[in-house]
Amino acid sequence: MLRTHTCGELRSTHLGTDVALCGWVDRVRDHKGVIFVDLRDRWGKTQVVIGPESPAAVLTVARTVRPEWVIRVQGAVGARPAGTTNPKLATGEVEVGCHVLEVLNEAETPVFQPGAAELPGEEVRLAHRWLDLRRPAMQDNMFLRSRIVKIMRDHFDELGFIDVETPMLGRSTPEGARDYLVPSRLDHGSFFALPQSPQLYKQLLMMAGFDRYVQVAKCFRDEDLRADRQPEFTQLDVEMSFVEADDVIGVIEGLVKRTARDILGLDVPLPLPRLTWDECMERFGHDAPDLRFGLEIVDLTALAGESEFRVFRGAVESGGRVRGIRVPGAAGKFSRKELDELTAVAVEAGAKGLVWLKVEADGTWSGPVAKNLGPIADRLRTTLGCEPGDLALIVADSFEVSCKALHTLRKRLGASLGLYDPAAMHFSWVVDFPMFARDVESGGWASMHHPFTAPRPSDLHLLESDPAACRAVAYDLVINGSEAGGGTIRIHDGATQEKVFKLLGITPEVARERFGFLLDALRSGAPPHGGIALGIDRWVMLFGRLDSIRDVIAFPKTQKASDLMTGAPSPVETKQLVELGIRTVVPPPKAP
Ligand code: AMO
Ligand code: AMP
Repeated sequence: MLRTHTCGELRSTHLGTDVALCGWVDRVRDHKGVIFVDLRDRWGKTQVVIGPESPAAVLTVARTVRPEWVIRVQGAVGARPAGTTNPKLATGEVEVGCHVLEVLNEAETPVFQPGAAELPGEEVRLAHRWLDLRRPAMQDNMFLRSRIVKIMRDHFDELGFIDVETPMLGRSTPEGARDYLVPSRLDHGSFFALPQSPQLYKQLLMMAGFDRYVQVAKCFRDEDLRADRQPEFTQLDVEMSFVEADDVIGVIEGLVKRTARDILGLDVPLPLPRLTWDECMERFGHDAPDLRFGLEIVDLTALAGESEFRVFRGAVESGGRVRGIRVPGAAGKFSRKELDELTAVAVEAGAKGLVWLKVEADGTWSGPVAKNLGPIADRLRTTLGCEPGDLALIVADSFEVSCKALHTLRKRLGASLGLYDPAAMHFSWVVDFPMFARDVESGGWASMHHPFTAPRPSDLHLLESDPAACRAVAYDLVINGSEAGGGTIRIHDGATQEKVFKLLGITPEVARERFGFLLDALRSGAPPHGGIALGIDRWVMLFGRLDSIRDVIAFPKTQKASDLMTGAPSPVETKQLVELGIRTVVPPPKAP
């Protein structure tokens, strides 16, 4: 070994010991001829002193050393002089008096200093990820990730789950996103699809009798990216046989409790609260609501129907809804300009406008449309539960639009008014999702989760007669307003699966061609089964109380799904395209 200890290891118990350390130069300070080098590795930092006691040759080399050089030092552990100890550093009581200094590798002046307090823009960090990953904060994130995955593996191992790897090169697994395709060299014109999830394979593992499966699985989805989405991400993928929803939920609740305890020292009481999808949409306008704060939506449709106000009447008469939220004590907090901004937020979310009203000290409303309220003014206040000094925000639109607009406003106000402790953790389940939603583009039905989800047994008769009313045995885990996982009980009989395919507009011929293996397996002794997948990247982000999913992935992609470090995706040589039988419609860029 080149070293005897790591840079995070030495304490006053080591005083007088001769040690060898290796690492990166974090900082060099020259104090009147005494040179202090902070030596850094993934374990911590140690102060190395090169002074009058060091050999002259060492002092000469030390004067040339620059940040990010890789060095090896040998020396004796000494106590730092009184008044110079650093209680913030684990090694802050000691220093190494250097008598051998070896430069293992020099470094060009880095694009940015991993040790510096000020960070460059994210593009620079991503393009030089190896430097960014040297930062202690990023290293902490990676360790957190590793610990969380270890807890997951231990939990499922103890419960008798088997870890099985499933293919990356396969057939499309529909999860609602676009596929990443891989062309076949041996069968021109044919493509593999990278898995959007291991969904079908894990169901087949149940049909093969494995009973309890788990995998840390890479998934690929070509979809529009947001702060909590990546084109390539990792799921903790789980499937179980002979279970009902409560069994899957129970296993995950055990994991939530264990992770919260081990990572955050938090005791999460079980069972976790459950809300139905209907309740979520009514009260919060979203199926993954942030329950760390209130600002619940109140339905005002019946009342609004009595009003002569054009905006309210119009919505009610066209079958829409009038809904609002009360923002306690906020009347004085928003300037006209800020209220215009809130209106713009609602409009951006699809609403035609936003009614804002303030309650004056005498209990009357003020605001641009206060006078239009007429006889419903008082009852509007009591229905919303508004008091003097409160602000009311009302949207009159279709149910979907009012959900979207009020959810967006609620989220924004929760954060901007500081309505919750950012360190608080709130876990809940959302259950009883509808089986289907209307697909905006085609006008047909689309699966809310995926096509393999079972309808609630009591709703089975609605499958064909009233698909909109048919509920699924589906459950999502929501942490702080983020969908941290989702799963369902699956269809385990071929006939129901065929019915669902048909409803989704998949003809029997196409179903046979794409999913024939599944339909056959369902008819060859398929056990009742169900499961769930947790978004590991999101778990780490949430348990690490971080804002960006990119900070918990070693080599993430940008919002444009590109890798700024390697330059992927990139053009390939014409020869490769020819081998694959591919001609691009854009002229091929010049091969390097
Ligand atoms: P679903 O599509 O809900 O379910 O995915 C499960 C969980 O994976 C995470 N997730 C993502 N994380 C980062 N970037 C993305 N682009 C992304 N997409 C999803 C979310 C989500 O809750 N096969 C089913 C699971 C099942 O039914 O068992 C599935 O994939 O946290
Ligand atoms: P207008 O008469 O269209 O200017 O609208 C009067 C007020 O009602 C404005 O403050 C609009 O922002 C608001 N408004 C218009 N349409 C809606 C709607 N569908 N829901 C809520 N407020 C609206």
